[in-house]
Amino acid sequence: MKFPDAAGASAALPPGTAGAVDHIGIAVTDLEAGVRLYRDLLGLELERIEEVPTEKVRVAMLKLDRAGALGHLELLQPTASEGAIAKFIAKRGPGLHHIAVAVIDIEAVMAACAAAGLELLDRTPRTGAGGRRVAFVHPKSTGGVLLEICAPAPGGIA
Ligand code: CO
Repeated sequence: MKFPDAAGASAALPPGTAGAVDHIGIAVTDLEAGVRLYRDLLGLELERIEEVPTEKVRVAMLKLDRAGALGHLELLQPTASEGAIAKFIAKRGPGLHHIAVAVIDIEAVMAACAAAGLELLDRTPRTGAGGRRVAFVHPKSTGGVLLEICAPAPGGIA
């Protein structure tokens, strides 16, 4: 699976972007219950479950649609009490956590966001689910939405 070719997708596409939502992140307390809801009751295809030790979460990736290869629901269950998702759930309860926008050139998009005055939570990209390179933008810069900028893993997407 590859990200769309930014140059071919649209002449108006901002530099470094991919013109697509990569995934929607949802904080859950019970990953298996989340899979039962979205897969067994609602029919989304479970692509994989993985652990992301750096983020202290177990992640279930479900395809937003069965034909699509890009968009996913990302269910995030904390594996330790000090992780960001655990803290989010402790403070606000489970629920919608972030939206991730796919980009081709994460450094370019981070620089553009910083130049536009947005507050980035990362100075350099960190490793996210599937080996993606990701960076977060603070909700106070985006109208209340925690935004993840999400680039393919070096060597391709898992
Ligand atoms: Co995410």
